[in-house]
Amino acid sequence: MTATIIVGTQWGDEGKGKITDLLARDMDMVVRYQGGNNAGHTIVIGSDVFKMHLIPSGVFYPNVTCVIGNGVVIDPQVLIEEKETLKAKGIELNNFKVSSQAHLIFPYHKLLDKAQETKREAGRIGTTSRGIGPCYVDKMNRRGIRLGDLFNESVFEERLAWNIEEKSFLLQKFYGMDVKLNKEQIKDDFLGFAKILRKFVVEDCSLLINQALKSGKRILLEGAQGTMLDVDHGTYPFVTSSNPISGGACTGSGIGPTAIDEVIGVVKAYVTRVGGGPFPTEIHGELGDMIREKGGEYGATTGRARRCGWFDGVVAAHSTRVNGLTSLAITKLDILSDLPKISVCTSYEYKGEKLNYFPLDLTKLEKCKPVYLELDGWKSDIDKIKDYDDLPKNAKAYLNFLEELCGARISLISIGAERGQIIKKS
Ligand code: IMP
Repeated sequence: MTATIIVGTQWGDEGKGKITDLLARDMDMVVRYQGGNNAGHTIVIGSDVFKMHLIPSGVFYPNVTCVIGNGVVIDPQVLIEEKETLKAKGIELNNFKVSSQAHLIFPYHKLLDKAQETKREAGRIGTTSRGIGPCYVDKMNRRGIRLGDLFNESVFEERLAWNIEEKSFLLQKFYGMDVKLNKEQIKDDFLGFAKILRKFVVEDCSLLINQALKSGKRILLEGAQGTMLDVDHGTYPFVTSSNPISGGACTGSGIGPTAIDEVIGVVKAYVTRVGGGPFPTEIHGELGDMIREKGGEYGATTGRARRCGWFDGVVAAHSTRVNGLTSLAITKLDILSDLPKISVCTSYEYKGEKLNYFPLDLTKLEKCKPVYLELDGWKSDIDKIKDYDDLPKNAKAYLNFLEELCGARISLISIGAERGQIIKKS
C-alpha cells in the first residue's frame, strides 16, 4: 500500500497544486478529499497557467486516474466548465471518477453564503461566496442532495422541494432578501448536469480507491485549503467548513489511516491569509505590499489580495502535530531573495510568558505577541538553482531553521512557479 497525503500547513494558498502536479507524475491515482471550488490550485506548464478548482491536479498525466471523493462538495456547473476548459487545451478526462456520495452545491447555498456574510458585519469570515459552508451544513443536517441522488428523480424532487421551501423561508424572512427560487428551473438545470456527468460517477469511490491500494497502486490524496482553516483545528470560526488536515483524507475518500505512508506538508516560506480572522505575524505597510506583489499573492479563486506575513513557527509546529507530517515541501523561497533581513516567529508572548503552542481560543490568541528572530537574507537570485548544495549559505540556514521549528525534514523546495523550478533535498 502506498498512500501519500498532501496538506496545506498554513491558511491555504501554500502551493499545493504545484507539489501535487510534481508528485502525480509517479502516481496511479490522485484523489481530492474535501472542500470544493473555494480551492484554486495553480499549475504552470510552459506558457499555460491552469487554475484547478475541483478536478484533481493529477489531470495533466493521462495515465493517472483522478478522483473526486465523497468528502468534496461539488458545484456541477463549475465542474463541467472546468472539464470544458481542459478539453479546449487538449486535456481529456479519460480517467476521471467522481463519487455519487459527494454533496452538491445548489444556487440557494451560494445565496445563503452571501446573505450570512452580509448579516455577520464585523465578524465577517470573508468566505469565497461559493456556497461551501451552507452545503456542508445541509450534509451534516442530513438534508443535502448528493450527486447520486440526481439519478433517482423521485428522491431528488422530494429533497429539492424540501430544501427550496426551507431556503426560501430563510432567505426571504430571516435575511430579508427579495429572491424567489425557481424549483423547476433548478431541477431542469441539475438533471441536465447529471446527464453530462453520468459517465464519470462511481457509486462508492472507496471501493475503487481501496482496490487500487490492494493491487499496489500509488495514491496521492490532495488536500485543499490549509490546516489553520480546518473547522476543528484552525482559527474557528474564521475557517472553512471541512477538514483539510490529513485526518480528513480518510473520511473524505473512504480509506483507513493504516493505508497512509506519508504526509507531506506544503509550507510557504512566509505566510499568507485571505479573508478575515487572526494572523499573528501579518506584515502591514510597504513590506507586506512588496511581498504580495512579488509573490503574486492574489486569490486564484476570487482574485482577492492576500494578507502577507512572516513565517510563523508556532503555526508550523501546530500543523506538524495535527497532521502527523512526515516531510515538508517549502514553496516560494525565491520571493524572499531580495530581503536583507528575514524575521521568523519562534514563539508567542502571552501575558509576559512564553507560549510555544498555538492557542485555539481566539480571545487568548488576540493577546499574543509574536516573538521574532531575525536572520540574514541571501540577496541573490535562486530561481535557476537545481541542486540543494548550490543554494546560498543564508538560504540553507533559513531552511534549516524552518525544519527545526516545524520538527519535520524538508524534502522539496520550490523556487518558482514553473514545473521544473524545484529542488529535491535528500
Ligand atoms: P469558504 O471556504 O468559502 O467558506 O471560506 C472560509 C474561509 O476560508 C475564508 O477566509 C476564505 O478566504 C478561506 N478559504 C477558502 N478556500 C480557500 C483557499 O483555497 N485558499 C485560501 N483560503 C481559502
